[in-house]
Amino acid sequence: ITVDVRKRGHAISPTLFGVFFEDINLSADGGLYPEMIRNRSFEDADTLQNWKFSSAGNSTTAAISVANVHGKVPSIPVNPFNRKSLVLNVNGAFALENEGYWGINVKQNEAYTFKLAVRTAAGEPYKEPLQIKLTSSSGKLLASGVIQDFTTEWKYHSLHLTALASDANARIEITGDGKGKLFLDMVSLLPDTTWKGHGMRTDLAAAMNALNPKFLRFPGGCWVEGEDFEHMYKWKNTIGKADARVPLWNIWGYNATNGIGYHEYLQMAEDLGAEPLFCINAGVSHRESVTADQLGPWIQDALDAIEYANGPVNSVWGSIRAKNGHPAPFHMKYLEIGNENFGKQYFENYELIAKAILAKYPGMKLIANDWSGGHPSEPRPEIIDEHYYDNPDWFVLNATKYDTYDRKGPKVFVGEYAVTSNTGKGNLRGGIAEAAWMTGMERNSDVVAMAAYAPLYCNVNHKKWPVNLINFDNHRWYGLPGYYVQQMFAANQGTVNLPVVIEGGPAVELPEASGRIGLGTWNNTAEFKDLKVIAPDGKLLYQADFSGNLDDWTKSGTGEWSVQNGVLRQSALNPGVTAYVGDTSWKDYTISLKARKIAGE
Ligand code: AHR
Repeated sequence: ITVDVRKRGHAISPTLFGVFFEDINLSADGGLYPEMIRNRSFEDADTLQNWKFSSAGNSTTAAISVANVHGKVPSIPVNPFNRKSLVLNVNGAFALENEGYWGINVKQNEAYTFKLAVRTAAGEPYKEPLQIKLTSSSGKLLASGVIQDFTTEWKYHSLHLTALASDANARIEITGDGKGKLFLDMVSLLPDTTWKGHGMRTDLAAAMNALNPKFLRFPGGCWVEGEDFEHMYKWKNTIGKADARVPLWNIWGYNATNGIGYHEYLQMAEDLGAEPLFCINAGVSHRESVTADQLGPWIQDALDAIEYANGPVNSVWGSIRAKNGHPAPFHMKYLEIGNENFGKQYFENYELIAKAILAKYPGMKLIANDWSGGHPSEPRPEIIDEHYYDNPDWFVLNATKYDTYDRKGPKVFVGEYAVTSNTGKGNLRGGIAEAAWMTGMERNSDVVAMAAYAPLYCNVNHKKWPVNLINFDNHRWYGLPGYYVQQMFAANQGTVNLPVVIEGGPAVELPEASGRIGLGTWNNTAEFKDLKVIAPDGKLLYQADFSGNLDDWTKSGTGEWSVQNGVLRQSALNPGVTAYVGDTSWKDYTISLKARKIAGE
C-alpha cells in the first residue's frame, strides 16, 4: 500500500460521521429517557394498561377517567393537554403496581425522585395517606415513603427515595386503606443522576457519546412522517412541562410520552458537541399529503422551530426556549425537509417550505430527500439525503459508488445506512461491509458531507426494526460489531484525503453466471408469482420458478423471504404497516425495466 503524502486531496468533511436518533424500538421511553413508570399519565389506553390493581373490598374500583373539559359536569384534568387520569373509588385496602419497562432497575445507594399528582372528589374525599413502596422482585422493601393531605385541587407530591439494594426487576407500589374517591396522574420515578444532568440515561447516552458524533439527526425517520397527519411528529407538543406534552401514538407501536422533546434533542446535541439536524414533516405522511394551499401551518412550524432553536430571548419562541432553561441559542444550522419523500407533491411542498425558510434564514443548510431516484431541484438543495439498507455484498460493491458522483451537484448526506439482510444481520460480516462502505464515503467526502448509521437504539423487548446499533434492556446494553466500526471511524477520522495505491491485492473473480434478477420491496408485505422477464423483442428471457428453491433469489430488504404454494413472499417488516393497494386479487402487472448487460455476469 503506497500513500503519497505529497499529493493532498480534498479535505475530509469535518461533519462526516454523526448519529441518527429515531424514537423507534422504544429507544426514548424505556430507553434513553429514564422514566421508570410505564403509562405514567394513564394516557395509553382506556384501561389500566401496564398497571395492576388489587383491593380487599369488592366495592373498590379503579378506572380511567377521561376529562371532558367542555361537558356539563366537567371533570378536571391536570391540565387541558392531559385529559386522562386514574380514578379510584375505594372502600378498604387497595394496591396499585407498576413494573416499568420490563422491570424497574434500581441500584443500591442511588437516589430517585418519585412524583405523583393527586386530587380527591368533592363530597366523597379520600383522606388517608398513600404508601409508596419500591420493592424487589422477591418482595423485599428497597425504599418507601408516605404522601398525604389531599384536596379537591390537583397537587403534586414528591418523595426522594434511596435504594437499599440493587435490583433490575423491581416494581413500584402505591397502597392505601380508606374510603372515598381519589384521582391520580403523572406517576413518575426518575433517577437523580442523568447524563450531564440533562435527563438522559447515563450508560445509553455515554454509548452514543463514545461514537463522537459530529451531528445528531432527530427525531426520525418514519416517526416524522407518521402514518397520517394526526400521528406525525409535532414539535410544539413536545416542549415545556412534562405533563403538558401531548403523548402521541408512535408509528413503531407504542405511545410516546415525548419526555425527550424538541428542547431535549437540541440539548443532547449540544452535550454531545454535535450539530443538531432537525428533520421536519414536509406536508407528507405515509398515507396523506397536503397541497401548496394547505401548507401554511407546516411552514409556520418550521420557521418557529428555527426561532425556538436560534432566536433571541426577546423573540416569541426564543423566549420560550429561555423559559425552558436555555437562554443561549442552540445555533442550529441544518434542517431536513421530509423523510424518504418523493414525487410531485413533495417537490412542490419542498420548494415552498425551503423558499420561506431561506427568505427568513438565508444561512440555514437545507437538506432535501433523495428517494426513489430523485430529489427536488428548486430551490437547489445544498444537501440531499440518501438511505441505504441492503446486504453485505451490496455495501462492499458500492464502496466505489461515490468515486464517480457528480462533483457539481448537491452534497450528499447518507442519512441512514446499515446492513440489514440475513447474511449480515448484526454480525461481523455486516460490520465489515459497513466499514468498506464507510471508506468509500471518507474517500469521497468532498461529496459525502455527512453520514449516519440507522437505527441507533433498540430496546430488546420491543424490537421493531431488524438490525440496530445499540441494543439494551433496562440496565445493560451491547453494541453490534457495526457499533465498534462506527466508533473506530469516528476516533480515527482524518483531515485530508491522500491518494492510495494498493498492489497485489486479492483478485476478484466474478462467478460464472448467466445473470441475476432481484426483487425488493420496502416497508411492506409483498408477494410475487408468475414473474416473467420479457425482452423488448418479446422474447421470454426468464420465468420464475417459485417452487421452492429460494437460493436462486437475491434476498434483500429487511423482511424475511419465503416461498409458499408457488408464491414468493416478503414478510411484514413491521406488523401494522400494510400495503395501500385497493385490489388484493392477483393481476398481471407489467414491470418495465431498462436493462443492460454487466460484463462478466
Ligand atoms: O431507520 C428505520 C426507518 O427506515 C426510518 O424510520 C425510515 O426513514 C427508514 O425507512
